[in-house]
Amino acid sequence: MSQTKLDAIKDSALTQFKAATNTKALYDLKVQFLGKNGSLTEIMKDMASLPKEEKPLFGKKVNEVKSLLEQVYTETEEALKKAEIEGKMASEELDLTLPSYTRMAGNQHPVYKVSEEIFAIMARIGYSVRTGPLIEKDYYNFEALNIPADHPARDMQDTFFIDPTHVLRTHTSPIQIHSLESEKPPLRIVGTGPVFRCDSDISHLPNFHQIEGMCVDRKVSMADLKGTISFFVREFFGPGLKTRFRPSFFPFTEPSAEVDCSCPICKGKGCSLCKQTGWIEIGGCGLINPKVFHNAKIAYPEWQGFAFGFGIERMGIIKYGIDDIRLFPENDVRFVRQFLP
Ligand code: PHE
Repeated sequence: MSQTKLDAIKDSALTQFKAATNTKALYDLKVQFLGKNGSLTEIMKDMASLPKEEKPLFGKKVNEVKSLLEQVYTETEEALKKAEIEGKMASEELDLTLPSYTRMAGNQHPVYKVSEEIFAIMARIGYSVRTGPLIEKDYYNFEALNIPADHPARDMQDTFFIDPTHVLRTHTSPIQIHSLESEKPPLRIVGTGPVFRCDSDISHLPNFHQIEGMCVDRKVSMADLKGTISFFVREFFGPGLKTRFRPSFFPFTEPSAEVDCSCPICKGKGCSLCKQTGWIEIGGCGLINPKVFHNAKIAYPEWQGFAFGFGIERMGIIKYGIDDIRLFPENDVRFVRQFLP
């Protein structure tokens, strides 16, 4: 009886060991047959009911089955392990031909890049950089620049008001006043930074950047202004681009002019960027109005000067042929990454 049972256990164990498809399943079988509460341990208990003379022989047979199963277990386990490792290696194969992950290096935003280029050009003719507050007193943004409260010129720049006496500066020209108040002429400065206007379309941003040149010296004329701007524009854009000066009006300069560059997209034929004119306005300029000197307590005509204010994004658009100014603040890396240093 016990012999038949032992044979059945042996056969069942061998069949199942061989059928095991992984080491975990095989181990579970080992526990089931050879473990502390396994089938072989159980069958040993049957020995108690055997006649005394059969006990040693049966015990020997159980041990034989036990070591056979242990041996088969070890062999099967080894084979399964090997298959598992090979399977893992095949599935996790390292493909050295795959392109690796590249870390994106940071690069300058085009506004920053253009600004740096401008500063470098202006430094060669003696100009150094100034900044100023983004929230300005009405006085610095308008009043000191000869734009009184009821002056129609206020409408030239749609203003974001912080409170009745403070604005987000609409231009970098207040930097002129800060410099005139705190520094002694002769002066050659480039003010720079963000400016804000209630304005937004293909060629206008509500938040853009300007560069403001100012030269104050003993004798300064329109010829000096034109010479300086022509030099600056030629150095920045290269010799291929045309510029023109159009008579204009700014309360803080007299006489005043606007500076245009030929449109790089349509090459002067007319397109949506240049509003079919073939020209793109980059900013204004003029000789500093004596009233501004007066407001800043600088003696005129002992000291005279010129100033100009250009849009940095506009200059970037023209130099790099960008067809929509709104690409600048979007921060799409596909755009920004085209301006590697
Ligand atoms: N501040 C003027 C503007 O933003 C530009 C300007 C600067 C004009 C300096 C003349 C002199 O439109």
